[in-house]
Formats: sequence, C-alpha cells, structure tokens
Amino acid sequence: MHANILVLPGDGIGTEVTAAAVSVLRAVARRYGHEFHFEERLIGGAAIDATGEPLPAATLDAARKADAVLLGAVGGPRWSDPKAKVRPEQGLLAIRKALGLYANLRPVKPHRATLGASPVKPHLLNGVDLVVVRELTGGIYFGDKTRDAGAASDLCSYSVAEIERVVRHACTLARARRGKLTSVDKANVLETSRLWRETTERLVREEFPDVTLEHQLVDSMAMHLLAKPREYDVIVTENMFGDILTDEASMLAGSLGLLPSASLGDGKTGIYEPIHGSAPDIAGKGIANPYAAILSAALLLRHSLGLEREAACVEQAVSAALDAGVLTGDLAPAGRGVRTVEATRAVLENIEADCYVAELRD
Ligand code: IPM
Ligand code: MN
Repeated sequence: MHANILVLPGDGIGTEVTAAAVSVLRAVARRYGHEFHFEERLIGGAAIDATGEPLPAATLDAARKADAVLLGAVGGPRWSDPKAKVRPEQGLLAIRKALGLYANLRPVKPHRATLGASPVKPHLLNGVDLVVVRELTGGIYFGDKTRDAGAASDLCSYSVAEIERVVRHACTLARARRGKLTSVDKANVLETSRLWRETTERLVREEFPDVTLEHQLVDSMAMHLLAKPREYDVIVTENMFGDILTDEASMLAGSLGLLPSASLGDGKTGIYEPIHGSAPDIAGKGIANPYAAILSAALLLRHSLGLEREAACVEQAVSAALDAGVLTGDLAPAGRGVRTVEATRAVLENIEADCYVAELRD
C-alpha cells in the first residue's frame, strides 16, 4: 500500500525517538512491500523558534493531508517561562483539537522482562492488560482561562455529545477485548462528572448492553490501579484524569519510555506519540528509550493504515528485544543501559527475522 506519513519530531528526545520509529516503519515497508512517504514539519518549541508559533499553518495543512501523523514530544525549559505568551504544549493541544482526535488510547501491558523495573510487586503485574481511553479534546484543558493579579480560573465543561462519542469508542474497544468498561469520574464533587456518569450509564444500557460497566471515583481509581491492576480491561475517563492516571499506569509497565498512544477521531487519520515528554535532562545524548515511539508506530500501522500483520510484527520485535535484555537506562540496572541506536537496531533485526519466518510459513 501507499501511505503519506507526517513526522513531527518536536523537541528534546522527540527528535531521537521519532527517528528510531521512522527507521522501523521503513523496515516494515521494505519487508512487506509497502510505499511509505515521510514528510517532516515543525511543532512545539522548535516551531516557536523558527516561526513564532507552536503550530504553524504549514504543519496543520500537512497533517490534514497525511494518512497518519507520528509525533515525538514537545516542550523544554527554554520555552517554560510562566510569563511566556506562547508555549510548545499549545501546539500539541491545537493539533489534537483541529484534527478532532477526541479518543486517546493508551494501552498498558507490562512485559515479563521489565516486571522488575516496576515499583509494583511482580505478582500483581502478571496478566495486566488494560487500555485507558482518555478524552482528548475537551474538559479543563480547553475551557476558558482567566488570570489577574490575585486569582486564576480554568473552566471545565463537557457536552453530552462529547461524552457519548468517546464512551462509544471505549465500548467498541471493550467489546473486542474482555467486555469490561470502567468509567472514571469525580461525580461526588463535579457537575461535569455527574453528567459524564449519567451519559455513560445510559449509553452503555442502550447501545452496549453486553458490556459490563462499573464507575470509579478518580481518587480511588488511582489507588486501585496500583493495588489490583489485573481487574481492569478498558478504562474511560475525561481529559485531565486520563493524563494523570496514564503516567501512573506507566509505572505498571516499568517506565514511561514504554507506553505508546494513538489519538483517534471519526476519520482514519490519527496522531501516534509516546506518552512521555521531551525529557530535556537526557536530550541529545542518544540514550532515550525508543520503544514507546516504535510501539506508537505499530499503533499507526494498525489504526490508520489497517496493517494488522505489520503492527503485530513490530510489537513482537520490541517484545523480543526486551526478552533479549536490550534495555535502555530507564529500565536497566544503573550504568548498564544500551543506547537508543542499539535498542532500535535490535528491533530492526527482529523485524527482518520475523519476516523471514513469515515467508517460510507462506
Ligand atoms: C500528554 C502530555 C500533554 C498533555 C502535554 C505535553 C500538553 O502530558 O500527552 O500526556 O497533558 O496532554
Ligand atoms: Mn501527560
């Protein structure tokens, strides 16, 4: 197949991990006979430096035309002045919103080779396989903001339609998995959460009676996620709760450097990005963990290009690299981590090996 992929490296380690993911996509294209065309544009701090804007019009245009967007990370200390009018993060929020990508999928499936890297006891992690569906274009992230010398406010609002579409997405996913949906809110305090709960309750009853629904308050969810993570299948929640809970959930996998994400809307185009940030402390050193970005490329193959076999091949290649103990500094014992290129090379070699096996089977 032919596909146009827009690459937005962004800032910090974003450039290093997207380069790794692109090399993996090139390997997939070569092995499976696809033609992927890559185009690169600016976003975040890099875009502010070059154009004054975190999301230049040329970037958004290219994103609208692309079949899928692969993104690194945005932000860094040099653009973090609290008084700054423009921030790198605005570029990320704006592109998610402009493309209508309201459902952010963040799968968490700890790998046996990295159980020891998690602060959670290994016996609690065995068999954990969950997906957080985070609402991505509404809530407090996008509400009106005010600020004067003595006070500030951020408005959180949700419409029924906004809740319905993301919950519908989560239900469809749950149906294809273990059929269990946990909706997370703060309905004992927030009006938006009460609307969220009522809407979810009704939608599941009317459209997905075969899906088992439970509600959790976000504070107790934060606890249960660590105490009994195996219980969860699909977790759906609003924008900010999802942001917080997925950083927490990354510790089940052992590192933020392992968690990919897919941001989807009603069309085929999606943004695929690791959930980690630009990691200014290690940027430019060639030691960032590329696996989350590579696994995001796998999600791109699956969700935007419909290439399930290729997606599974990449996931198995990462899994085999982890099994072989190819671990970057965030996962390895102190001083024993491999460099970004070594981890990437292990994945590339495994993709080739996997494809030879596939050819044999054919
Ligand atoms: C994420 C990030 C972003 C978010 C930031 C960089 C704006 O933390 O993708 O989780 O809060 O959505
Ligand atoms: Mn986050």
